[in-house]
Amino acid sequence: MNGAAAVAFAKDHGDRFVEELKALLRIPSVSTDPARAGDTRRAAEFVAAELTRIGMENVHLIETSTEESMTAGASGPAQVVPARIGHPLVYAEWLHAPGKPTVLCYGHYDVQPAEPLDEWKSPPFEPTERDGNLYARGAVDDKGQMWMHVKALESLMVAGGGKLPINVRVIVEGEEEVGGEGIAAFVRDFGDQLHADVALVSDTEMFAPDLPTLCVGLRGMIYTEIEVQGARTDLHSGMYGGAAPNPFVALAQIIAQLKDAEGKILIPGFYDKVQAPSDAELAAWKLLPFDEEEYRHAEVGSVALTGESGYSVLERTWARPTLDVHGMPGGFIGAGAKTVIPARALAKVSLRLVPDMTPAESFRLYKEYVETLCPKGCTLEVRLIHSGDPIVVSTDNEFVRAATEAMHTVFGKETVFVRGGGSIPIVGDFTRELGLPVVMMGFGLPDDNLHAPNEKFHLANFHRGVESIVRWFGILSTLTALES
Ligand code: BES
Ligand code: MN
Ligand code: MN
Repeated sequence: MNGAAAVAFAKDHGDRFVEELKALLRIPSVSTDPARAGDTRRAAEFVAAELTRIGMENVHLIETSTEESMTAGASGPAQVVPARIGHPLVYAEWLHAPGKPTVLCYGHYDVQPAEPLDEWKSPPFEPTERDGNLYARGAVDDKGQMWMHVKALESLMVAGGGKLPINVRVIVEGEEEVGGEGIAAFVRDFGDQLHADVALVSDTEMFAPDLPTLCVGLRGMIYTEIEVQGARTDLHSGMYGGAAPNPFVALAQIIAQLKDAEGKILIPGFYDKVQAPSDAELAAWKLLPFDEEEYRHAEVGSVALTGESGYSVLERTWARPTLDVHGMPGGFIGAGAKTVIPARALAKVSLRLVPDMTPAESFRLYKEYVETLCPKGCTLEVRLIHSGDPIVVSTDNEFVRAATEAMHTVFGKETVFVRGGGSIPIVGDFTRELGLPVVMMGFGLPDDNLHAPNEKFHLANFHRGVESIVRWFGILSTLTALES
């Protein structure tokens, strides 16, 4: 394989790669929005078409869906849970390099909702370049990073005259931002079809600009809803205020008892399984270029940082569980005033988990505790919307060493190992179900505004990402004696 030729091809065609990415970014594949299901599928088809064009084989969409089912509510009648929308997986492979390693390339083509729209400087689904950045929803999370994989494969394919230096499988999901249920079921039931030596995930960040970074840990999560029911129907708050229960006040009281003022979660037993990072890991984190005041001011933009005392910001966001409230739909939220006691209120609450916590046990403890907090006159239901396991991956393998070598060539610096506070549910399954080492080589920046208005991808990092992946594949092609 002529690695230099692939790198040169990527450099020569970098502008075209970005134009193609813009076309993908114009498709509003918001996985959580049923109205966008058609767009979400279109994004899958777009990715599949390009994988076919560059010479990947056996390219197809894998449908994911679950059937309607009955569940018994904790404090209510049985309910029909509607069939999941099930956005398709995109699969592709090229397996004609006998004796060479097989890489499983993972990414996701779905994106988070773009709201609030009026805070975007350019519309979220009209990708726009400003100051060397490409602005759009999904620019870096994860369409742009997934596109780096596709473009690295194209560059290697062209440079190799239609051949890759190693074996490759590609799996791209469309439900990462809603919990990744479909891909988890596929990995569980058909994991042998993803047989590989290592998984490559580009869906994380660099610790700082120009600092090559491998992410070695992710938090898990449980995403929940607490629904509180008070009166049978909405009531006039003058006629009934003083006698009727108010489910929003109930929720406020419940939420106020989930964490103390220091950020410690009050669920009994919740911390029992939390593993502290090793001394070596903590020592390495202390050496990272991190300025807490700069972080507070430039990234968070609040007057103070919050969280558990006795832990650094990096420990609090990478290695400690947390609890957050995302929204409380219900009641009156229109302009002006309406004097009503709503009959029902909802809170969307998620908890981030760290090794060795499990989603099932964490949810059980949480649900039991919340049920004890239900105020007089109300009933409540605690629902699990989705969940994912926390993970810490090993760095002691040749795939990680090859990645640091590849990025050293591109960035001219030693790689730092960090954890991420976010979650990518399938990564845990790659390790546990498929037994795969995972290399999380991500090229986002801390100020890329993931999930927020004005998401961007620093285009220099897109190109350096393509080159790093090309070089990584090149190094892997020189490895021998893999057991597969
Ligand atoms: N790419 C992110 C996760 C991430 C971001 C990891 C930055 C490390 C650093 C991913 O797309 C994401 O946002 N995941 C969701 C998962 C959830 C909805 C199950 C998250 O973390 O909220
Ligand atoms: Mn992502
Ligand atoms: Mn995301």
